[in-house]
Amino acid sequence: MKNILNAPFVREMCKTAANMYRLGWDERNGGNISYLLNEKEVAEYLDLNAVLRTIPLMGVNAGEFDVTPLVGKIFIVTGTGKYFKNVEDDPETNLGIVRIVKNGVELLWGYKDGGRTTSELPAHLMCHMARLNADPENRVVIHSHPTNLLAMTYVHELDTERFTHTLWQMSTECIVVFPDGVEVLPWMLCGTNEIGAATAEKMTRARVAVWAMHGVYGAGRSLDETFGLIETVEKAAQIYMLTKNCERINTITDAQLKELAEFFGVDYRKGILNL
Ligand code: 13P
Ligand code: ZN
Repeated sequence: MKNILNAPFVREMCKTAANMYRLGWDERNGGNISYLLNEKEVAEYLDLNAVLRTIPLMGVNAGEFDVTPLVGKIFIVTGTGKYFKNVEDDPETNLGIVRIVKNGVELLWGYKDGGRTTSELPAHLMCHMARLNADPENRVVIHSHPTNLLAMTYVHELDTERFTHTLWQMSTECIVVFPDGVEVLPWMLCGTNEIGAATAEKMTRARVAVWAMHGVYGAGRSLDETFGLIETVEKAAQIYMLTKNCERINTITDAQLKELAEFFGVDYRKGILNL
């Protein structure tokens, strides 16, 4: 068996958490990551028959939450209450590798101190199911608290079309990186069935769902892609916050946004640009 601490997926999780912390997106235990792994790859590092313990899914009503499409799938997931700051120095305490079973998970590695999966795991799993339907290559769901995006939800209308339009205008790359736009949810109680289902419903249309006054959910095919997606949205929100109280004398017009999308061959979301 190879040493799990050298597994590329463990190293990548450590690097991603460290970058998110360094950028100030994940204070204290803020944020969580789940990454769907390839079973054959995991089997090079772990005995898949050695279940350390089972952990029930918290905060969900089992009757309302059908995890069947993910049963048997293996994920690496950040632990609840764990600080992103500490993941790189102690992955075995702060991360877990789990296999999905009905109403819970089987722990294969990690959460060394008796810890559990993130309290947001139900929302992550619902988002994984929604994104896998839209894109069978989807592997990653990241929840985070990026500073400027959060700030923007206090001062901008919480309307998906208007929010997306503003972000697309904030830098030239935006419509190319997130042509599907961002979906916006009002403030809701986190850790519940309701917010998970609402986020997953949003994710049938877009890879980014903004949680007003809380943070963001992003999805993608790899940790890099998902991180880059949130990074681009956050950068646009930063430009918005930096310019909000300044006299704006220049902008990217809707005709230019369309020109950009067409030049880079992306199928941008309709109903946003006024053309
Ligand atoms: P966890 O510590 O349970 O992952 O929760 C962090 C968070 O951001 C809740 O929204
Ligand atoms: Zn959060």
